[in-house]
Amino acid sequence: MKEVRVIELFAGVGGFRVGLEKADKDFFKTVWANQWEPATKVQHAAMVYEKNFGQGSVSNVDINSVPVEDIPDHDMLVGGFPCQDYSVASTLSRSKGIEGKKGILWWAIYNILVKKGAKAPSLLLLENVDRLLLSPAKQRGRDFAIILECLNEQGYIVEWRVINAADYGMPQKRRRTYICAYKKGTPVADGFTTPNDWIQNSGIFAKAFPIECDRDLTSLDAHILSDARKDRLVDITENFNRKGGDSPFKKAGLMIDGVAYSTDANPVFKGAPIYLRDCLVRGENRPADIESFYIPDDQMERWRYFKGSKREERTRPDGFKYFYTEGAMDFPDSIDKPARTIITSEGGKSPDRCRHAIEDETGRIRRLTPVELEHINMFPSNWTECKGVDNGKRAFLMGNALVCGIVTKIGEELEKRLKAE
Ligand SMILES: C[S@@+](CC[C@H](N)C(=O)[O-])C[C@H]1O[C@@H](n2cnc3c(N)ncnc32)[C@H](O)[C@@H]1O
Repeated sequence: MKEVRVIELFAGVGGFRVGLEKADKDFFKTVWANQWEPATKVQHAAMVYEKNFGQGSVSNVDINSVPVEDIPDHDMLVGGFPCQDYSVASTLSRSKGIEGKKGILWWAIYNILVKKGAKAPSLLLLENVDRLLLSPAKQRGRDFAIILECLNEQGYIVEWRVINAADYGMPQKRRRTYICAYKKGTPVADGFTTPNDWIQNSGIFAKAFPIECDRDLTSLDAHILSDARKDRLVDITENFNRKGGDSPFKKAGLMIDGVAYSTDANPVFKGAPIYLRDCLVRGENRPADIESFYIPDDQMERWRYFKGSKREERTRPDGFKYFYTEGAMDFPDSIDKPARTIITSEGGKSPDRCRHAIEDETGRIRRLTPVELEHINMFPSNWTECKGVDNGKRAFLMGNALVCGIVTKIGEELEKRLKAE
């Protein structure tokens, strides 16, 4: 294969494209991208995408309104479908899984595969929060089972892995589920060996992100997604894990011919890690408005309170009294570790438990600048600098994005296989 034609869905500021182009710009060619933010009139992410990849490089409309005939034929479909329903900001019990408002965008992906028919992409690379494997709370694993069954029905072998970028030397503790799917009868799928071997040794994830499994090679569980002859998706929706209990989908797994294999796994990494310290900008490289990132003396106490341990009585609106407890966090954050997960509210100025606060070379404590957040996601410097996109929005866009280095490693592994044929 000389090149891979890629489409990037839910493109945000282009994290998949950045990652794949870093793997090989001449090999991975993005032929179409779509990004539309339903919550705002101004389309900040699309503006940043166009600034970096050129005018007209992104279709900025609701993906559900795009006729599949208007999407160019492609070899690979990539995307981080929106994760608000599963994100750490909302609790598992409140999450509505893929029945939720945003989550149903999975069907936009499925629709493309179905309507493209024989021209459907041979490769998929998807990203979601780690809780995708567990949701919804009352039928753990059901949503992921639906995704697997959709891909099974469309003729794909699927492997997934929960990857924490920091476990592989990258500068952020960001744990996400990555899903790769290979259409049967196409190059990567043709190299398939056995489920055990693929998951632990020879698969794309096994090569890009080596693991040691807790359990013996032969002891992986096989879960038949559904026995129903007729509508398997309806059957899964109604019956999957109905009795409750843990999700059968663990950190590493594979689905072939409707049977899923899964196991817990420990990361194996021997390289040199990148820490928060390595992402900081110093001296003249700091932005002109650097002073606005320092925490004013009169707010220091409040920051300490938010970051500190607490056990305090609180009252719910219905009058119910309870004790709220939480442990202490580093304040300031250690820069000799990977950053914590960047979330969309990272950018605001007010004291906040989740926002990073670091002591810089001046000895003063400050929040992270937009460029530092870009570095933590392994984007090039100033990626989100764009007219009409303020510092808070830049942080928001990084909170929604991904660690591009993960995609680069997957891209490099895919390229090796595709070029070897
Ligand atoms: C988790 S973010 C993906 C971020 C991306 N991977 C990046 O590197 O920036 C999901 C994106 O889907 C977009 N989105 C939500 N609903 C959409 C829709 N109906 N059509 C197209 N894009 C949508 C959101 O605006 C958001 O940018």
